[in-house]
Amino acid sequence: MTDASPMLNVRVSSSELDILAFAAGQAGTSPDDYVRRKAIEAAEIDVLEYRLVTIPAADWENFAAWVNSPVKYVPALAQTYDRRSRTAEPPSPRPLAAADDRYAFDCGRDSLNQWFWRHAWENQEARVSGTHVICDTATGEVIGYVALAASQIERARLPEPEPSDRPDPVPALVLGQLAVDRRYQRKGYGRSLALFAMMAAVRFAEDIGCFCMFTHPLDDGVRVFFSHLGFETLPYDPRRCMAVRIGDLRQSGF
Ligand SMILES: CC(C)(COP(=O)(O)OP(=O)(O)OC[C@H]1O[C@@H](n2cnc3c(N)ncnc32)[C@H](O)[C@@H]1OP(=O)(O)O)[C@@H](O)C(=O)NCCC(=O)NCCS
Repeated sequence: MTDASPMLNVRVSSSELDILAFAAGQAGTSPDDYVRRKAIEAAEIDVLEYRLVTIPAADWENFAAWVNSPVKYVPALAQTYDRRSRTAEPPSPRPLAAADDRYAFDCGRDSLNQWFWRHAWENQEARVSGTHVICDTATGEVIGYVALAASQIERARLPEPEPSDRPDPVPALVLGQLAVDRRYQRKGYGRSLALFAMMAAVRFAEDIGCFCMFTHPLDDGVRVFFSHLGFETLPYDPRRCMAVRIGDLRQSGF
């Protein structure tokens, strides 16, 4: 049977290959697999950090019509909100603290582990993004985390000349990173963290103004997870991020 996966060829110098072979040996894998894993990890971190959604200029008018379309009741959002009280008293999310043991956290996905270990605290200190954690009340271990940041949706630049009536970007929040430690997955903590993010988005919209919260799902499983909670694919976004409008959250009970 032939492997139908797409193939990527990368040219490296012999000294680079030596380093890759050494590091791969240390990690107990082949240089090919090592390069693949590290490249995917770095790409996923970049995608999740990306704060902008750019709508093609040709679609901007249709997108604006969707932004201004009437708010709607979304059964999946209402269900997410209703189920908050049925989870057996989960510890509430609280801001990440310097003393939290980030390095013991393992969600099974290298990019989200690395981001939490290396960037979550740094970004929090720099006020670039805010991370909240749910911790085990007995052991203090981090069960899961969610990170939010301010963002916007904008129209792609037009070829010259730039028109003077360039539309204003749409203010948004990005749910950048959400992960639950492997030992605690499928127990409702992911939903609790997403619910916290949705409630924070509603408060943020009231205080400052914000049209929606979006996220960049990394694969189809995560896409199903978010659609289960009430997120929909953002219309006209070529990257197919998923979003919830604040008006729809309110209309659905938030
Ligand atoms: C995706 C993730 C956050 C889900 O967290 P979780 O605590 O396991 O999810 P929950 O138990 O709260 O699940 C909520 C609902 O989503 C469903 N669900 C959870 N993970 C799912 C998946 N991968 N695919 C499809 N459905 C999923 C659950 O069955 C549950 O459905 P229910 O309401 O009918 O019971 C977790 O699996 C994880 O950390 N994965 C690795 C990191 C990652 O990929 N994060 C996403 C970043 S974009």
